[in-house]
Amino acid sequence: MTVTDTKDRVVIFDTTLRDGEQSPGATMSHTEKLEIAELLDEMGVDIIEAGFPIASEGDFKAVSHIGKQTKNAVICGLARANFGDIDRCWDAVRHAEKPRIHTFIGTSPLHRAIPNLDQDQMAEKIHATVTHARNLCDNVQWSPMDATRTEEDYLRRVVEIAIKAGATTINIPDTVGYTAPVEAAELITMLINTVPGADEVVFATHCHNDLGMATANALAAVAGGARQIECTINGLGERAGNTALEEVVMAMKVRGDIMPFHTGIDTTKIMNISRRVAAVSGFAVQFNKAIVGKNAFAHESGIHQDGMLKNAETFEIMRPEDVGLSATNLVMGKHSGRAALRSKLENLGFTLADNQLKDVFVRFKELADRKKEIYEEDLIALMRSDEDAANDRLVVKRLRVVCGTEGPQSAELTMLIDDMEKTETATGDGPVDATFNAVKALHPHSARLQLYQVHAVTEGTDAQATVSVRMEEEGNIATGQSADTDTVVASAKAYVNALNRLLVRRGRTGEDTKEINYKDL
Ligand code: KIV
Ligand code: ZN
Repeated sequence: MTVTDTKDRVVIFDTTLRDGEQSPGATMSHTEKLEIAELLDEMGVDIIEAGFPIASEGDFKAVSHIGKQTKNAVICGLARANFGDIDRCWDAVRHAEKPRIHTFIGTSPLHRAIPNLDQDQMAEKIHATVTHARNLCDNVQWSPMDATRTEEDYLRRVVEIAIKAGATTINIPDTVGYTAPVEAAELITMLINTVPGADEVVFATHCHNDLGMATANALAAVAGGARQIECTINGLGERAGNTALEEVVMAMKVRGDIMPFHTGIDTTKIMNISRRVAAVSGFAVQFNKAIVGKNAFAHESGIHQDGMLKNAETFEIMRPEDVGLSATNLVMGKHSGRAALRSKLENLGFTLADNQLKDVFVRFKELADRKKEIYEEDLIALMRSDEDAANDRLVVKRLRVVCGTEGPQSAELTMLIDDMEKTETATGDGPVDATFNAVKALHPHSARLQLYQVHAVTEGTDAQATVSVRMEEEGNIATGQSADTDTVVASAKAYVNALNRLLVRRGRTGEDTKEINYKDL
């Protein structure tokens, strides 16, 4: 007997590219969205919510492109409750092998007040819009936004209307992260037991993490009868985020004894996609985050290490390999050769052509000269830090910083700007500020720095620092990242990386700018 015979299948609906990307500052470029969608598909996600097509030209193109490239997953687009949104959504998903339209409207008293509709008027709108969506597409999901604060009678009524109008999945969102596990389970059970036609559709759960209960609420909803979980990688999403995919999937895997459910997720792909989403969104994962945090499998205290050496199960309820972390992380040093580097990179998911390997090997040797022990994280940072560099118009060549207790600090920076070498010296309040001022002197711009973050990739004073910056210019947002053993050099490169991306975006006016918010009705 296989797992599938004994356990109910729970469908995983990933909304990293829609609800996750909607989180202020998490904007991803078109190429990044395609890459994340591909990783989600390879990982076995059942449904990818690829964007909100009416929100911007960029969203439309991303959903449509993802629909065309995706091999296995259902591709879903979001649409508000009006024909224009739904038609645009259908235009974006229609070329996908398996398209889905997801339409929603806020049903709680507070949300009904926004378009100023009474209960009957809203019910009519739901009937008309779901019918319209279903006339276009066989696979329609309907969500009563803020369901957990909607009157139960009214919720039952509108769910029944949506089912009769042809919705195939009914999603019950806890939009503001207000519900608690017992309530989340009871709500789904109540709907399944009382709404006519409920057994014909799949019930989904969509939880936000405002009270830190999104994972618990989603799992409780499944216990109550939901068979689709909506979630994001790393729990990315507005405010405190959404249910984290890695948490619900691993919880059902590890505690299958009390949660007899299974998913189609290849859990060994979790770490790679988590790192990638953190990098492209600029939202670093907190160290003690469940499953994907840097410390999730680290055992520092003496008693833990002793126990671990005798029997890993003493302190570990899952194996690092189960989520894609290899047991031995210390990988290479100065004397490691090209073949070893290629094989290690392949294990980490990077396949390189010979000429690419040659370049990476040079950078690896440079790093190994500065840093004794090279860990997996160092290699990943090395691979990621100079991505897309080939087409960059701005390149950092040399940086010399003068620091001291008596300010101001100064930075002499040489950059290639459209292949012309230029040098400027600037002062600032600290070495990073001085460096950024030197960049501004060389390449004047109006972009505003929204976020500046430094993370040590590994331990030790020779550790590489990964620097992430987020910049905003006329509504366009771009993140930049770089890693180096010198934090100021990494900062300069990350800043310039973001500027390069803004230059690309400027050339595609408005493409990545959201013109409307999904909550504007
Ligand atoms: O949180 C929410 O209610 C949503 C809906 C659009 C499903 O994201
Ligand atoms: Zn949401």
